[in-house]
Parts: sequence; structure tokens; C-alpha cells
Amino acid sequence: MELRFTEEQEMMRKMVRDFAQEQIAPKIEEMEETDLFPTEIIKQMGELGLLGIPISEEYGGSGMDFTSYIIAINELSKVSATVGVILSVHTSVGTNPILYFGTEQQKQKYVPKLASGEYLGAFAITEPGAGSDAASIRTTAVKNGDHYILNGSKIFITNAGAADTYIVSAKTDPSAGVKGISTFIVEKGTPGFSVGKKEKKMGLHGSNTCEVIFEDCKVPVENLLGEEGEGFKILMANLDVGRIGIAAQALGIAEAAVESALGYAKERKQFGKPIAAQQGLAFKLADMATKVEASRLLVYRAAALRQQGLPCGKEASMAKLFASSAAMKVATEAVQVFGGYGYTKEYPVERFFRDAKICEIYEGTSEIQRIVISKHLLRD
Ligand code: CAA
Repeated sequence: MELRFTEEQEMMRKMVRDFAQEQIAPKIEEMEETDLFPTEIIKQMGELGLLGIPISEEYGGSGMDFTSYIIAINELSKVSATVGVILSVHTSVGTNPILYFGTEQQKQKYVPKLASGEYLGAFAITEPGAGSDAASIRTTAVKNGDHYILNGSKIFITNAGAADTYIVSAKTDPSAGVKGISTFIVEKGTPGFSVGKKEKKMGLHGSNTCEVIFEDCKVPVENLLGEEGEGFKILMANLDVGRIGIAAQALGIAEAAVESALGYAKERKQFGKPIAAQQGLAFKLADMATKVEASRLLVYRAAALRQQGLPCGKEASMAKLFASSAAMKVATEAVQVFGGYGYTKEYPVERFFRDAKICEIYEGTSEIQRIVISKHLLRD
């Protein structure tokens, strides 16, 4: 099997690479320091069609394939993992649920706006008491005439505050376990909806991670996604796809870390020669590059399955598990290659190190990925 991209996919890679270098790289320092959401960058991405890459033209998207979308996250994350995750969450778990589970009316109303970048999407499942155990959410949705009344709160919501629509899960039948969960499209500005505290994070500066609160929040019945009680399956199916995006983000961070370490190791001289010429360092670089190559194969294999409409849950979890762990290890080693300089903000490797860690946590921790993979193995 050879991994070969089409001409169109290579064009996407080049376009995103150039955009990231020209428009994002100069703003990294500011994002790191202010932690402000990169509104202007996201607007430019909307204009370039990057917010709707795998969405069909019928719904206002760019009509490109899923692999092109993964290439975009991969390339963006080499420069900014923050911008990578904003795109991944917006598309995979912020837009796709409407496209795949929405009514024609919901699709017409929301998808073109999301695909064009007029709207930004978010996804709200996690709660203070329901992280890995996603089915234990306590937010409730009670039907009252032509509205559902939502009460509860969600935490760690990526894109919150900047987003226009939120895919929200709530219990419509608290006695029915996972079968009592339903999913709703909640628009910002809906009465009773508000965005709470913004987290101060170790990494991913510029990416919003906030609490969102529902206080007698009145959501029209036509914003129920799928049927009542189908919410958990919708969420899980979307996370299957979302996890390929996070794996691509991890791959991008790892690639950037290897590139930085290689460049530095060739230039930095100690004991009269470049440190890359010391076998201890050269072997380290070899291990780092091998981990990146293995991640790349897993990420693009999962993407190819998804693109062909084949089941990809196991492969998505494998890609996320491996690529996020590889990114953490590779970024750690990159800091080591840079030595004392690597521990300073003079070089980007300390940022890669901080950004890599979250890939092992969000959209399901590495432990959860192992649960998903082993369930598949035992079931298959
Ligand atoms: N697709 C469709 N249906 C699925 C599914 C999938 N991938 N996975 C499970 N289901 C269905 C099952 O078939 C089952 O239905 P039936 O009873 O009809 O067969 C039902 O859902 C319950 O399945 P489980 O018994 O396996 O559920 P569980 O409670 O044991 O949980 C879990 C499984 C994998 C641990 C799940 O809770 C999970 O993925 N947890 C992690 C949560 C997570 O990833 N959160 C991410 C937050 S979003 C985020 O991080 C975004 C961001 O900011 C970047």
C-alpha cells in the first residue's frame, strides 16, 4: 500500500501551508500572550472555503473529500494547534451532526452558514460530573409545548463564546440511561443560554474553552436533532469522525517538533561538531521521525476509510491514541534536543510540548480510546 495524495489534495496542502505560514505564523506570539480567539484568522479561513471543506456544494461547502479536510487540520496544526482544533471542532462535531442527522430544514437553515464561516460551530457534551462517562450527563431537556426547556451546565467547551451554534446533549428521559439522551442545536442568543468562565489553559492559547450554562433555556422543538433518545448514538458516531481530526492535529504538532529538532540539531555545535552527528542525538531523531511516520499512516488510513463511507471507529481511535501519544513523546524529545534553549519561549518546542498534551485528553482520553478499541476487537 502506498500513501499517495491526489493532485487536488496536494493543492489543498499547499494552499493551507502557505496560508498558515503567511497569515497565522506572524500572529502566534500575540495569541500566546493574549490568549485571544483568532477571529480574523477564522474569518479569512471562511473566505478561503476552509470552514466547509468536506461539505457538499449543495449545502454551501467546498465539496472536497474528507482526506482534504484532514490534510488541512494537519497542515494548520504544524503552525498552530489552536487553529487546528478550532477547525476540527467546528467541522467534525459542530457541523457534521446537522449534516448527517438533521432534517432537510435544519440542514438548509444551518449548514450553509457554518460551511461559509458566517457561523462557527461548537459541541457541548462534557459536564463537571460527566467527562469520560459521557452518558452520565445531568443537563435536562423537558418538552413544553413547542419548546424544550434546558437546564444544566457544560464545561470545557471548545469554541464557546466565539460560536454561533452549539450541538448540545441533554436528558429528555433521566430514567432511561443512554437511551434517554437527546441532542439539540442551540443558537447563541437563545433565551436562557449563556457562556460562563473561560479556562486558563496550559496550552492551545487562543482557543476558547468555556463553561456554557442553560437556565430555563427555551429551545424550539424543531431544533431537536434526530429523534428523542437517539442523542448518545449521534454523539458517539460524530466523535468517531472527530477523533480523526484530533489525530491529525497531533500529527501536525509532532511533525513540527521533528522539523524544529532536526534543524537545530544540524546547526548546534558541541564537542566540535553538530549535535546531530552525535549518535545519541541521531538515534533520538530517528525514533522521533519513525513515530511521526507511523502516526501519519494511521491518520490517513482512518481518513481513507471515512472517505469511502466505511466503518472507521476503531481506526479513528487507534489513530488518535497513537498519534497523540507520539506527539507528546516527540515534543518532549524535541525540548530535550534543544536543551536549555528548549525550555525557553525563544523556540517553539515548549509550545509544541504544552499543546501536545491535550491531544491525549480531549475527544476521549487515551484510556477511553483503549476502551473503544478493545470493545471493537471483542465484538468483531
Ligand atoms: N456509534 C454509534 N453508536 C454507538 C457508538 C458509536 N461509535 N458507541 C457506542 N454506541 C452506542 C452503543 O451501541 C450502545 O447502544 P445499544 O445499547 O443500543 O447497543 C450505546 O451507544 C451505549 O454504548 P456503550 O455501552 O458502549 O456506552 P458507555 O456508556 O459504556 O460509553 C464510551 C462508551 C466509549 C466510554 C463513551 O462514553 C465515550 O466515548 N466517552 C468519552 C467521551 C468523550 O470523548 N468526550 C469528548 C468530549 S468533546 C471534546 O472533547 C471536544 C473538544 O473540545 C475537542
